[in-house]
Amino acid sequence: MNMPDEKALRHLNSALNMDALWLPFTANRQFKAAPRLLVSAKDMHYQTHDGRKVLDGIAGLWAVNAGHCRPKIVEAIQKQAATMDYATGFQMHHPMAFQAAEKLAAIAPAGMNRVFFTNSGSEAVDTALKMALAYHRVRGEGTRRILIGRERGYHGVGFGGISVGGMVGNRKTFGNMLGSVDHLRHTHDAARNSFSRGQPEHGAEFADELERLVQLHDASNIAAVIVEPVAGSTGVLVPPKGYLQKLRSICDKHGILLIFDEVITGFGRTGKAFAAHTFGVTPDLITCAKALTNAAVPMGAVIAKQSIYDTFMEKGGAETNIEFYHGYTYSGHPLAAAAACASLDLFQEEQLFERVAELAPYWEQCAHALKGLPHVIDIRNIGLVAGIELEPIPGKPGARAFEAFLRAYEKNVLIRTTGDTIALSPSFIIEKAQIDRIFDTVRDILKTLP
Ligand SMILES: Cc1ncc(COP(=O)(O)O)c(C=O)c1O
Repeated sequence: MNMPDEKALRHLNSALNMDALWLPFTANRQFKAAPRLLVSAKDMHYQTHDGRKVLDGIAGLWAVNAGHCRPKIVEAIQKQAATMDYATGFQMHHPMAFQAAEKLAAIAPAGMNRVFFTNSGSEAVDTALKMALAYHRVRGEGTRRILIGRERGYHGVGFGGISVGGMVGNRKTFGNMLGSVDHLRHTHDAARNSFSRGQPEHGAEFADELERLVQLHDASNIAAVIVEPVAGSTGVLVPPKGYLQKLRSICDKHGILLIFDEVITGFGRTGKAFAAHTFGVTPDLITCAKALTNAAVPMGAVIAKQSIYDTFMEKGGAETNIEFYHGYTYSGHPLAAAAACASLDLFQEEQLFERVAELAPYWEQCAHALKGLPHVIDIRNIGLVAGIELEPIPGKPGARAFEAFLRAYEKNVLIRTTGDTIALSPSFIIEKAQIDRIFDTVRDILKTLP
């Protein structure tokens, strides 16, 4: 499948040497035999190397929430690049980073208004885990060292993130993980919740597992729990009604910090600025990245409750002491900060989070209309996200969905698959006709898939 026409391939191979590049999360040999290259982008579309216009059904990678190459963001980056390319954030800083932090804090849940910048979601996760450990230590509870993640969680690819994460493929080859880690069970319950629209009815009690882990380890040893409010990379698992509330109250009861990894759900994906708003649960730390800059420049962030920041300051000792021994050369990089300011302004100006909430019922209806088609065993959705789970081909997990991805690309629609789930997450500027086109394409493909 997906062979570009022979002439285009010959041309590409003579123009581009692909040997040196090792692609991330990609079957390199398969890719290099039949490359899929994107060369430009505008609003809802990519242009491919062989001249096709492809409808982007996944906002790049759950990231380009305002659509591609939006002029205000492009101009902000260009202007900043010409004004000041770089300034260290260590014992120095620059105004744009403060402005970006202020704008981010302004859309975060109430009380969450202190921002630490990173360069990616993975770094945001590792930063949040370290912040949680250091927080307990500075307030005199340094025994709290255990970090609790969840099965089927994805928290990026740093050692912290894969340790608390729960995707076996991302863990099994790497040997050493962080030592003091445990996991909650995942929240997927196909028997009771298949084809739920929005939040599933059943499964709030899965949060009680945290009580079991507290009994096992003792609360005095547990620092934090980290979950994605909606697990994205393991196939769009929407939290059962009441589940996150329960997690929150068990954390409160035992003095455990709750971290929401909102790298995917942040910036409007579920219809409000953060999933914390959508589900009405405020964590202690939020990790975010991706759409923070509309994906135009790499940037991530941890948003902390003010009380956490204040604790570091109050317990920091002499004013000349560094309160948190952590940071990146590019924390708050000027180009990223400029892109973040422009993106956050654009989301607001165009009321894009509200647009998600408006489009969500139509999106849901289109997604669930695929029920009954060949291979479809579950459909899950929230905001502008949908997961369409396919029955795996026996002995070949992921193969059927990947074939769907290739066929959709041939039909000029970019979708994403994870395992045997097709995960759709377009930019918020999508029109209803484009939603139709995505689901019509998936429908046509499902009818012909092996
Ligand atoms: C929930 C979650 N956390 C962390 C990450 C890692 O982000 P990055 O790839 O920017 O390191 C991702 C990436 O998709 C994610 O979905």
